[in-house]
Amino acid sequence: MPMTMLATVLAAVLSSIVVVGLGVASYRLLFHPLARVPGPKLAALSTLYEIYYDLVQKGQLPWQLKRLHERYGPLVRIGPNEVHINDTSFILDLFSSTNNKLDKYAPHQQQLGVPNALVSTIPHQLHQLRRSALAPFLSGSRMTTAYRPVILDKVENVSARLEAIRQTESVVDLRQLLWYMANDIVTDIAFPQGTHLLDSPVLQSGYYNFQKGGQAMLLWFKHFPFLWTIFKAMPPAWIIKMEPQAAVPMNWEIANKKIAKEVLAGNNICEKSTVIHHLWSSGLPEKEKELNRVWEESASLLGAGGETVTNAICTTMFYVLRDRAVQSRLVNELKSAMPDDTVVPPLPVLLALPYLSAVIQEGLRKAIGIMSRFIRVNPSEAVVFHPYRLPPGTALSCSAFLVNNCDSIFPEPEKFMPERWMTSEDKLINRRKKLVLTFGTGPRRCLGEHLANAEMYYVIAILFRRFGFTLYETSERDVEPARDSFMPLPVEGTKGIRVRVANVT
Ligand code: HEM
Repeated sequence: MPMTMLATVLAAVLSSIVVVGLGVASYRLLFHPLARVPGPKLAALSTLYEIYYDLVQKGQLPWQLKRLHERYGPLVRIGPNEVHINDTSFILDLFSSTNNKLDKYAPHQQQLGVPNALVSTIPHQLHQLRRSALAPFLSGSRMTTAYRPVILDKVENVSARLEAIRQTESVVDLRQLLWYMANDIVTDIAFPQGTHLLDSPVLQSGYYNFQKGGQAMLLWFKHFPFLWTIFKAMPPAWIIKMEPQAAVPMNWEIANKKIAKEVLAGNNICEKSTVIHHLWSSGLPEKEKELNRVWEESASLLGAGGETVTNAICTTMFYVLRDRAVQSRLVNELKSAMPDDTVVPPLPVLLALPYLSAVIQEGLRKAIGIMSRFIRVNPSEAVVFHPYRLPPGTALSCSAFLVNNCDSIFPEPEKFMPERWMTSEDKLINRRKKLVLTFGTGPRRCLGEHLANAEMYYVIAILFRRFGFTLYETSERDVEPARDSFMPLPVEGTKGIRVRVANVT
């Protein structure tokens, strides 16, 4: 092709791109149904706005959302087709348990690598079907019966390790230790073979580091889901060769998947009753019981139940340790409830302790849970937030980070104040409880809440009853969220939440 013709074609292509681009831009800014909703023009133009704060600014979107609400008010257009909401009454109404017609936001549902699991399910009807099948496996009653020995076994292991650390007067990172515990608990409950990380005399950091690396990638997986496709297509042996730390989790997965395949084929080669057995014998249609789907559902429990629980317990313990008055009030309550520190009361007794409950509720508020915003879509009806009408299909989002720190509901939100949960005004307490979004809200609220609570109550009660801890070179910066990586992450380079262990006084 002669050069002049090539130049003409290129010019035509480029000018078409510019014309289409200008057309889309003017539509989004001037004629789109969300055009009147306040917000930065750049965000209205393109989702690159979100990508910039996620990837270039390394997880800074939640702080930008906070600034946008301070500037534009309770409703902000943060994408071509998305509004972010920071009005607590409207959030409660929209996301409430009675509003079960909301879908999840499709473009983000590959992020966790389990698109067929409940947590990533887009249509609300399919979500209800899957949720009602899985729910009995994580019911509150199982925490006081079948799962109590499993949880206590792991907490006792942690306690024994802390006793050894007390005797050698060394320092321990609670974040790492409790992550092993949470992982072992959820895998022991849900899978044919648990991870048994705590069984090793010296804790192996490979698995821990591998999951930390994966977690740091989650915002990349959100925007570039094909990275999951590449990762999943790679033979495990390659991955292990490239990253030897992957060996333990990958071998664990291979072994469990093999057993899952047999169980789903009707060959029960496993003595335990796991989530795989549970889903297999549920009333779900056969299509829902295929290996890939069941495996993703099981794997999602591991993803959901490790880091979240660890972060919630560690955040709570840090704030208790930072305040002598809180610590001694908690220890006094625990001494009365557990006169013999080797006898652990039944869970309902712990759940009824007022100060322990206030400490945990406040710890959950500060822990945030999921740092990324919750996004829902009403596929069939418009949503009205006066004077705006948000048409069906609009992405509607809110953030636990903003709501948990809302100063009209939680005065001085930066402070750790268990007392805010102990006022006699029931109405106020109920409203506050609804507005701690750590476990989410509405029909998609966390299904593992009972398990998470059981772990929190047992760990905090047992450890504070038996040991006196002091923080070692650990400050708020090692705990406070500094980055969004789906989960809240503290500043880069943190060495964890390190403590010295002594006898309880
Ligand atoms: C303190 C610990 C935990 C926190 C903060 C937490 C937080 C959350 C949040 C915020 C959601 C809603 C996500 C969304 O709306 O997109 C969620 C969903 C879920 N969580 Fe948890 N979680 C915790 C522990 C657990 C545990 C231990 C399990 C089970 C082993 C679990 C299983 C699930 C499941 C299955 C869902 C999906 C529910 C649905 O879509 O209907 N979580 N979690």
